[in-house]
Amino acid sequence: MADARKLAFAAFSAPTEGVLIVFCEEGLKLGPSTRKALAATGDLVERAAAADKFTGKAGSALDIVAPAGLKVTRLVVIGVGKASKLKTQDWVKLGGTAMGKVPSRAEAATIFAEIATGSLKPEQVAEVALGTQLRSYVFDRYKTKRREGEEAPAKPAITIAVANAASAKRAWEQSREPLADGVSMARDLINEPANVLYPEEFAKRAGALKKVGVIVEVLDVPAMKKLGMNALLGVGQGSRKDSRIVIMRWNGGKKKDAPVAFIGKGVTFDTGGISIKPAAGMEDMKGDMAGAACVVGLMHALAARKAKVNAVGAIGIVENMPDGNAQRPGDIVKTMNGQTIEIINTDAEGRLVLADVLHYVNTRHTPKFMIDLATLTGAIIVALGQEYAGMFGNDDRLCDRLTKAGQETMERVWRMPLGPEYDKQIDSKFADMKNTGGRYGGSITAAQLLARFVDKTPWVHLDIAGTALGSPQSDINKSWSSGWGVRLLNQLVEDHYER
Ligand code: BES
Ligand code: MN
Ligand code: ZN
Repeated sequence: MADARKLAFAAFSAPTEGVLIVFCEEGLKLGPSTRKALAATGDLVERAAAADKFTGKAGSALDIVAPAGLKVTRLVVIGVGKASKLKTQDWVKLGGTAMGKVPSRAEAATIFAEIATGSLKPEQVAEVALGTQLRSYVFDRYKTKRREGEEAPAKPAITIAVANAASAKRAWEQSREPLADGVSMARDLINEPANVLYPEEFAKRAGALKKVGVIVEVLDVPAMKKLGMNALLGVGQGSRKDSRIVIMRWNGGKKKDAPVAFIGKGVTFDTGGISIKPAAGMEDMKGDMAGAACVVGLMHALAARKAKVNAVGAIGIVENMPDGNAQRPGDIVKTMNGQTIEIINTDAEGRLVLADVLHYVNTRHTPKFMIDLATLTGAIIVALGQEYAGMFGNDDRLCDRLTKAGQETMERVWRMPLGPEYDKQIDSKFADMKNTGGRYGGSITAAQLLARFVDKTPWVHLDIAGTALGSPQSDINKSWSSGWGVRLLNQLVEDHYER
């Protein structure tokens, strides 16, 4: 990414400045290179550990300022528990934890990527590096001054010490740096305010993916009119900003292979339209394009790491505003596939956007599967909170694969029901369906509407209203938007679709 990253890989040797971070297994077990680097400190670590009852348990740490015998300003010993038990995701998290121990004012930090038995493997080092980068993300481009005592965000130079620096660097650059960049890209798009990021600007930023070899196609309003995408266009018609659809294609797989497809809701701001939302918290609706942002970040990751897969990303980008030209409750729109929808509530706009984009992708690209991501309903936050996204789908195998990828990345999904019984709730007096289904099961009736636009194609809808915005703070995320979904879907592709 443009944002110059100060990350390097080097052989083990005692650093002479900044912060030194080492890992320690349960039973106060350090690796051989670590012990060598700390030899000059004598029994400092043992004494500090005894004083603080530190044994190397996962989640614990020793923080020693100005350690005697070393030139560094600080020595941090991070407990990892039993290293043999750690999974991929734990290394990412440890990278985040390590980064969290580096004070913003530090100019440099060295992380010894070693456990009791020796150096981490290149792939594990790349995960640690990913964690450091996710943790150090900040969105501060609109801060022109700092409050007194407020520190500039951490941008210290990070060196990761490892047995084979060259192969660690390769693993990082080929697989995890593209992913880190994809997540940052998604976070940036979501954090960006809606006066800056409106549909046309969003499309322009997605156009930057051309640099990594993605084919980018943009549909403007006349093109969408011609295709009959009146559900999507109806949502955008109250805005001064014209709607767009962006289709991104990455062809890294075999020529004849059907693509995997990802579809994102991109409402750059959701006022609710004529069914206007209450004022409190409405500012969060600048993030109502998190699904689309995730698709862009994912397409970046796939292309930049040259994934052996054919992938299509498609995002419907609109602004939902109240205006003299805005859509009204009671209006009936005809979608691209000919079905009609009665608008009951103009705030149930995401499903209208997705209906047209899903049908478009399904008929134009005959994908292997479609996965859509959308900050679709407040009801999913009530149901699942902010730790799991709601998953709806017509294909058990795809759902199971996503569940597993969720556990691997800790971007977890929880399957919710679909079924014809729910269809009654969206029957309309005047049209084929209506866009809201009443108070009960609001996330399900929304998904039920989407299902009417996918036919038999394996499909999953992820309702990310809870996970994507106001994200819970974690070891690897301090941002309002976590960029949820980029790592999940990259993992899904990596696990199953790159033969
Ligand atoms: N974008 C919202 C859903 C949302 C709410 C996302 C909170 C993130 C945080 C969506 O367009 C919406 O307004 N949904 C309505 C649907 C209702 C009118 C049927 C909702 O959830 O209240
Ligand atoms: Mn809405
Ligand atoms: Zn919305």
